[in-house]
Amino acid sequence: MTTQTVQALDVQGLEKSYDELRVLRGVDFEVAPGSIFALLGSNGAGKTTVIKILSTLLKADAGTASVNGFNVATHPAEVRESFSLTGQFAAVDEILTGRENLILMARLRRVTDAGQIADDLLARFQLTDVARRRVATYSGGERRRLDIAMSLIGNPPVIFLDEPTTGLDPQGRLEVWNSVKELAEHGTTVLLTTQYLEEAEHLADRIAILHQGRIIVDGTLAELKQLLPPATVEYVEKQPTLEDVFLAIVGDDANDGDPAMTPASAPTRKEQP
Ligand SMILES: Nc1ncnc2c1ncn2[C@@H]1O[C@H](COP(=O)(O)OP(=O)(O)OP(=O)(O)O)[C@@H](O)[C@H]1O
Ligand SMILES: [Mg+2]
Repeated sequence: MTTQTVQALDVQGLEKSYDELRVLRGVDFEVAPGSIFALLGSNGAGKTTVIKILSTLLKADAGTASVNGFNVATHPAEVRESFSLTGQFAAVDEILTGRENLILMARLRRVTDAGQIADDLLARFQLTDVARRRVATYSGGERRRLDIAMSLIGNPPVIFLDEPTTGLDPQGRLEVWNSVKELAEHGTTVLLTTQYLEEAEHLADRIAILHQGRIIVDGTLAELKQLLPPATVEYVEKQPTLEDVFLAIVGDDANDGDPAMTPASAPTRKEQP
């Protein structure tokens, strides 16, 4: 409650257990409108659980969450009007063409001028050339871009991308990254989850790491990098990568240890010939 502006996303003290498994143990973060926020975490950290709560698919046990100023518990209908969600598996119809998929979605969402909206989105996501081909023939990257384009119909102010590039090759990943940047340039707020540290590094205005049920780091890339002293290789000073920061904080064991980092636990990169 330190800021006056309405955050696009505001999550405070979120808790969620599945039976005995305490997945979220007090998750706090805020996302400013029009920014890209990356939620990083290992498998099973609870990233998808956070997205499910924000998208009203799941109820939290404790804490509050709001989307576009609407509380998910008290105003679920307004929340559902405020976001769009694309999961790991593209929700596109293989038999239809890309353009037909977009038009179908526009009609489902009762948008007028479906054809024009479809064509605009196809152009915006560099899909015009493949627009009249069946989606079954699309590359993974084209499919994901179409999926993101479909989720934009109706202009939701917030979009949740749960692992948008899982399974894509580097080229496909780059294409999706460009599309995500495009979103933010148009003022859409993006919450993305990823296991690719490079993706967060490349795309996000702010990055948070979810570990053992809590956000243990939250900041800009520059702020995260300051958590570690720069590693050195002989005479050359080298900045730690986000991966260094991530591994130093999270560790690669499953111990319930204190996640706080000490310089002694930070990886050092003195390379010997
Ligand atoms: N409906 C459920 N019932 C029981 N356990 C669940 C349920 N959904 C998720 N879990 C467990 O909760 C934990 C968090 O799952 P979640 O899907 O949120 O993780 P994640 O960070 O998205 O992981 P990944 O990177 O693998 O997608 C996991 O251990 C998972 O097995
Ligand atoms: Mg997940």
